Amino acid sequence: MVIPIKIKNKNDIEYDILIDKLPNLEFENKVAVVTNPTVAKFHLENVLKKIKAPLVEVIEVPDGEEYKNIDTILAILDKLFEAKFDRKSTLIALGGGVIGDMTGFAASMYQRGIDFIQMPTTLLSQVDASVGGKTGVNNKYGKNLIGAFYQPKGVYIDPAFLDTLPAREFNAGVAEVIKMAVMFDKDFFEFLEANDLTQKENIIQMIAKSVQTKANVVNQDEKEKGVRAVLNYGHTFGHVIENLTSYKKYLHGEAVAIGMVMANELAIRLDLLSKEDANRIKNLLEKNNLPTSFEIKDVEEFYEHFFLDKKSSQGNIAFILPNGEIGSYIIKKDIPKKIVIDALNSFKAK
Ligand SMILES: NC(=O)c1ccc[n+]([C@@H]2O[C@H](COP(=O)([O-])OP(=O)(O)OC[C@H]3O[C@@H](n4cnc5c(N)ncnc54)[C@H](O)[C@@H]3O)[C@@H](O)[C@H]2O)c1
Ligand SMILES: [Zn+2]
Repeated sequence: MVIPIKIKNKNDIEYDILIDKLPNLEFENKVAVVTNPTVAKFHLENVLKKIKAPLVEVIEVPDGEEYKNIDTILAILDKLFEAKFDRKSTLIALGGGVIGDMTGFAASMYQRGIDFIQMPTTLLSQVDASVGGKTGVNNKYGKNLIGAFYQPKGVYIDPAFLDTLPAREFNAGVAEVIKMAVMFDKDFFEFLEANDLTQKENIIQMIAKSVQTKANVVNQDEKEKGVRAVLNYGHTFGHVIENLTSYKKYLHGEAVAIGMVMANELAIRLDLLSKEDANRIKNLLEKNNLPTSFEIKDVEEFYEHFFLDKKSSQGNIAFILPNGEIGSYIIKKDIPKKIVIDALNSFKAK
C-alpha cells in the first residue's frame, strides 16, 4: 500500500509512504545506513541485501534516548565527512523514533541538507515519528528542543520489522494509534476495540489507518500552527508524568496512555466527554496492556509542570480534548485552574 504525502509548504513537497515488504532500492550515489546495535543485530543484514549503491556505509550509534543529543549528531556528521559524502548522498534511518529523528536532523545539516529515507522499525515510529518531518535531538533544557522540519524522500514501513520488537514497545506504539483514533476517527476506534491488535492483518490495517490519519494532518499543517497540535492529545499530561518519573518508569507511549485518561477526566468536567466514552477509551488502553493510573503526590506541583513544557507559555496552556464524542477534538485554552486541579485531584495519592 502506498500513501502519498503532499505537503503544501512553499516547496510543495511530495513523497510516498510505502507499507509493504521492503523493496530493492537502488542509488546512484553514496548511502549511509544509520542504526543502532539492537536493530542492526536483527535487521541490518537483510536491509543491506536490498540496497544497491556505489558505497554503503553503516553508521552505528548507541541505543537509547539518552544518546539522542547533539554529540551523536556531530559523530554522524564526522563519519560522513570521513567517507567523503557529498550533496547527492543519501542517509537511511534504520530504527525507531530516536534513530529517525537523529538521522533526519543530521541529513538536514550535512552540507546544508542531503536526502534521507525513513525505515522505521518500531510501531511508534511506523505510525507516528517517521511521518511528518519533525527531526531533532534533546538537550539539558528538554526533549526535541533542537531540530528542524525536514521531510524525507520516502518512508518504507515493513511490518515484518515488528516481529522482533518487545511487546512493551509494541504496546507503547498502540497508545499513539489510540490517540489518533480518539481524536479523528470513531470507526477506527471501533476497529481497534473489536480486533486483536497482535494479529498481522490487523497490525497492517492499524498502521495504514494511522499513517493516513497523520499524513492528512501533516498535509494540512506541517509546522504545527493548528490541527497538528491535536496529535498532542494525552501529551500535555504525559510529558509531566515522564518528567516527574525522570523518563525512567514509563515508555513515552505509556505516559501518553495515562495522559489520555487524565485529559479525559478534564473533558468530563467540561462536559466534553461522557463517563461511558472515557471508560471505553480506558478499557481499550488496558486491553493493550497500557497503564491507565498514576498517583499524583502533589497536585500543585503537577500543575506547575505544565508551564515547563515548551508548548505552553505562562498562563496559557492549550489542552487537547475529545469534543462531545470519540473521533472529534477541541483545542481548549484558558481552562480555569480550579477545574484542572479538580481533574488532577482524582489521581491524588491517598
Ligand atoms: N518526529 C516525530 O514526529 C516524533 C513523533 C513521536 C515520537 N518521536 C520520537 O521518537 C522517539 C521514540 O521512538 P521509539 O518509541 O521508536 O523509541 P526508540 O527509537 O528508542 O526504540 C525503542 C527501543 O526499541 C529498539 N528497537 C527498535 N526497533 C526494533 C526492532 N524492530 N526489534 C527490536 N528492537 C527494536 C530500539 O533499539 C530501542 O531500544 C522519541 O525520541 C520521540 O521524541 C518523534
Ligand atoms: Zn507521542
